[in-house]
Amino acid sequence: MSKVYQKRRQTLGNLLPMDCAIIIPGADLKYRNADSSYNFRQDSSFFYLSGFCEANSTMLIVNTNGVITSSVFVPRKDKLKEIWDGFREGPEGAKENYLFENAFNNDEIDSELPNLINGMNKVFYPFGKKDGFDQLVINWMKSAGTKDRHSKAIDIADGSSLIGNLRLIKDSDEIEIMKQAANISADAHMEAMKAVKPGMNEQSIEALYLYEFAKQGGRFAAYTPIVAGGDNACVLHYVDNNQDLNGSDLLLVDAGCEFKMYASDITRTFPISGKFSAEQLAVYNVVLEALHKATECVKVGNNIMDPQITSEKVITKGLVELGILEGDVDDLHQQGAFKDFYMHKIGHWLGLDVHDAGDYMENDDHMLFKAGMVTTVEPGIYISKDANVHDKWKGIGIRIEDDILVTESGNLNLTAKVPSDPKEIEALMA
Ligand code: GLY
Ligand code: MN
Ligand code: MN
Repeated sequence: MSKVYQKRRQTLGNLLPMDCAIIIPGADLKYRNADSSYNFRQDSSFFYLSGFCEANSTMLIVNTNGVITSSVFVPRKDKLKEIWDGFREGPEGAKENYLFENAFNNDEIDSELPNLINGMNKVFYPFGKKDGFDQLVINWMKSAGTKDRHSKAIDIADGSSLIGNLRLIKDSDEIEIMKQAANISADAHMEAMKAVKPGMNEQSIEALYLYEFAKQGGRFAAYTPIVAGGDNACVLHYVDNNQDLNGSDLLLVDAGCEFKMYASDITRTFPISGKFSAEQLAVYNVVLEALHKATECVKVGNNIMDPQITSEKVITKGLVELGILEGDVDDLHQQGAFKDFYMHKIGHWLGLDVHDAGDYMENDDHMLFKAGMVTTVEPGIYISKDANVHDKWKGIGIRIEDDILVTESGNLNLTAKVPSDPKEIEALMA
């Protein structure tokens, strides 16, 4: 795998203008309380370009007249620290196992990095990404600029899009991992559908997901799961996950594992009793149609806003047919009347981050889909108990979310394994 990362560094280096450099900060260890840390997770871009997973590391890629050189600053080897916290590669290991041309201890960065960027026209780095890092870059640039009174000034530029737009198009190694991540999450959703019973608590269902993810190698969720019974589903970022489940309600679960650093992101909404009521089914079918029609728009050459607009139109029409909205469908769509019930966007890029890197705009317009992109498609309708509608609709919150890979010939639903068809859901729950 180290050759894959080396190739990505080469690709990024070749995107730099001649005699420019890019600095990529690694993640630091984060603490939950006092000195109890979270498990370390490497910064996604740093990982994408190295596969290297030690905290407090920094990477530098330099394009010198077309020759690409990668350097890394890593934690110093330290017998005592390694007894407490585990093995460190040190600079030698970073060169040998991760194929960097140069490697240093991270406590040498202030003296070594300025030498490596001295004489460059411009230095890119992701602006505002990491606390304190902007100041460090400025210090290194100042230090480089004062090495030689006659050296030229170095410009500075945001490198976020350079890296993000590389990450936007997934290579075959990434697609393989993302298929596995999606499969693990799909399996967990199916187990939850089989296990849920009235009276269970939302947090038991959350625990079931985490267990099912971990059983197949996805120890961490890619984001905090949303396990929302009934009206809780109308709180879009509900993560309390601590209420008892009512047999007459739906359960919305938005949960996906992280597998080998890659996210999956699935939402399914299913009846806690195992049977949809007539009203639940009516609303569900509108969301399902929006999912299907929006997914059909995800193909090479289409504008990324096509699924958005399609989903808005299907949901507006459906809400009118149910009598939840009144008026002309086109007028209501123009007015944005659907936003009372469908208030988020249709989806987002998916990859190492659940809301993945990569631009949405290109040349002052929205991007067109290209093969290798992965997007979620996640329409929803949320009718809270406070909504100004007939009582029979209140407390129905539904989202259905799939992960869609854009292929040369159309698209591939990575999460098709877990049913979204209501009959199939009921059959699985029976
Ligand atoms: N799970 C986060 C999202 O769907 O965007
Ligand atoms: Mn999502
Ligand atoms: Mn989601």
